[in-house]
Amino acid sequence: MAIDGPAGAGKSSVARRVAGKLGYSYLDTGAMYRAVTLAFQEVHPNVATWTEDKVRELLPRLELSMGVGGQVYLGDRDVTSGLRSKEVTESVSRVSAMGAVREAMVKLQREVTGKLIQGNAEPHGVVIDGRDIGSHVFPGARHRFYLDATLEERARRRQAQEGDGTLQDWMERIERRDRQDSQRTVAPLTIPEGARVVDTTGMTEQEVVSLIVEVVTT
Ligand code: DC
Repeated sequence: MAIDGPAGAGKSSVARRVAGKLGYSYLDTGAMYRAVTLAFQEVHPNVATWTEDKVRELLPRLELSMGVGGQVYLGDRDVTSGLRSKEVTESVSRVSAMGAVREAMVKLQREVTGKLIQGNAEPHGVVIDGRDIGSHVFPGARHRFYLDATLEERARRRQAQEGDGTLQDWMERIERRDRQDSQRTVAPLTIPEGARVVDTTGMTEQEVVSLIVEVVTT
């Protein structure tokens, strides 16, 4: 099942809870792009020097892997807690727009998903959230959802989550990321063909989870 949508639409928490309710695995592809960004920042702290060639050099050495509980590892180092830092959030759209990065992540996403599905004796599903899952990575996914909400509502949610900054700051940050994610040339954020669009403005997380579970199970 693919769940796509812009920043702050509530994809990650909804996807995690839907997976829990259905007994499916959950794959957070945003966390993968964040891990590449973190690794890149560690090697090249000066953002101004970043080029796609430098990222391409780093990619084969990354040893990126995901744990069953949603942890993300670089080698044997658990980097999960550092992935949502301001520094990573500010730069991840730039790194995730690079073709070499997307190619490596999409390959890994397909491998991991294949293993999760085959590794279970029972018929088993995977909930995957991101920006290009239903449109590019798994266009044949049985269920495709696109979660959206107004810019103001998404900014409000992020502000509540992070507990700092003004609403105006958050609106500007999110708008910038929306622009970068939807205007990049490789697999931009778009509504996948046949996706069910859910405007989550004014809905609780629980309501969104119930709606998705109902669509999938009926
Ligand atoms: O969902 P998130 O905020 O953790 O995503 C982090 C960034 O990664 C976001 O700016 C867009 C990018 N991303 C992407 O390009 N493709 C995906 N499938 C998932 C995330």
